[in-house]
Amino acid sequence: MNLTARIVLDPAAVVAPVNRRLFGTFVEHMGRCVYTGIYEPGHPRADEDGFRADVLALTRELGVTTVRYPGGNFVSGYRWEDGIGPRELRPRRRDLAWHSIEPNEVGIDEFAKWAAKADVEIMYAVNLGTRGVQEALDVHEYCNQPAGTALSDRRRANGSEKPYGISMWCLGNELDGSWQLGHKNAREYGRLAAATARALRMAEPGLELVACGSSSSTMPTFGSWEATVLEETYDLVDYVSCHAYYEEYHGDLGSFLACANDMDHFIDSVVATADSVGARLRSRKKIQLSFDEWNVWYLSRFQGGPPPTEWRVAPPVIEDEYNVADAVVVGNLLIALLRHSDRVTAACQAQLVNVIAPIRTEPGGPAWRQTIFHPFARTAALARGDVLRTAVDGPSYETDRYGTAATVDAVATHDPATGDLVLFAVNRDQTRSVELAVDLRAFGDTVRPAGTWTLADDDLRAVNTAADPDRVTLRAANAVTVDGDVATLVLPPVSWTAARFSG
Ligand code: AHR
Repeated sequence: MNLTARIVLDPAAVVAPVNRRLFGTFVEHMGRCVYTGIYEPGHPRADEDGFRADVLALTRELGVTTVRYPGGNFVSGYRWEDGIGPRELRPRRRDLAWHSIEPNEVGIDEFAKWAAKADVEIMYAVNLGTRGVQEALDVHEYCNQPAGTALSDRRRANGSEKPYGISMWCLGNELDGSWQLGHKNAREYGRLAAATARALRMAEPGLELVACGSSSSTMPTFGSWEATVLEETYDLVDYVSCHAYYEEYHGDLGSFLACANDMDHFIDSVVATADSVGARLRSRKKIQLSFDEWNVWYLSRFQGGPPPTEWRVAPPVIEDEYNVADAVVVGNLLIALLRHSDRVTAACQAQLVNVIAPIRTEPGGPAWRQTIFHPFARTAALARGDVLRTAVDGPSYETDRYGTAATVDAVATHDPATGDLVLFAVNRDQTRSVELAVDLRAFGDTVRPAGTWTLADDDLRAVNTAADPDRVTLRAANAVTVDGDVATLVLPPVSWTAARFSG
């Protein structure tokens, strides 16, 4: 028998405007994300700059807005100036983070060109692992100073007359992690981040700066790290970062499907920690959260792999293949990010191409959409206007990892300009459909059903491959039935759905 649930939507119950930066992504010099991912001169679809046109088209279709670059763990050993000037003079270097050779064929000038073609904003991460204030100032001068200084003129000589105008700058990456080159304790990092932030603000006061939070909520220093770092940086930064990756452990699908609960808890904990530092400092300022790495990642498989032996350019690294359940989880994580739009105002799915990514490529071959591409692209396309506070009245179930979980999780957006209302919902039940009644009385008779898109499949382990790239895609769900002020839609077992009502 089907389950039932009910949700009441009200255009007055606004959490915050939808921030387009929630639909960010991440391009790291790692594995095949850059080389044979976004960039592959000689590929039949390469454009005049060596960028893959098929990947660019999919990037635009995905609807990403902001791209974090160039790392990740990579950035903590990166010398940005290796990647500028004539290509034949650029050094090849060891990348210790991913045990590869970095050829430096792509650097900030090429990436800025790619970002312009993809119509995305760059979020630039500076190296605070092996480097510090001076190098951060240098890369800022190269990128953002209009002209008339050594480094801005070097950029112009290298072919980019106009500055890149990068607004968001990450002050390092995951420096709480022992795996990170230049790993630091919270006080050491906080002081370095504060000094770097102060210097960058002297160069350009309006920058938006992101201090590193914990690399996951399971770190032993989680909470105390954020508190100490923010004690040092509170007045100097705008954001603290969050990173979270989820996977299905030992076939425990029920827990995996509920991992957005953990993301909720993670966000609430970092907000509480940041606000308690603010209270102690008697500050009225609120620190925002930049959830600049999140995704499904089968990290336990990666950690169990053999240690790398040879040094290669762009070896395949963590090219996870995503199934239907993974896509439902990705859709649910976006629901969690949207519902925290008042404090999470930037987010980046990690990563864009090949490395735990919605887009996959073969060198010299095709590019295709993984299952997780679909809920991301549809959410990015449909979420407009305001995020509405939504509470689902319905069944729940027990999970081993994340406690009691609602069977249906949902969020809605409403655009007062167009009248469009969109409900995003998941059904986490593994065998039963849910009849979801959506109470629209607060909208009067101004909205009517205008399309549904569902990701579900009898085979939860189905994946998309180069040979069968559209095995898993979105399909129109059962029609929405309307009775008075209540619209009812059916959510299949283990599914993600977007339902649009036009105004
Ligand atoms: O996205 C893959 C890696 O995960 C990043 O390099 C690092 O920041 C995180 O640990």
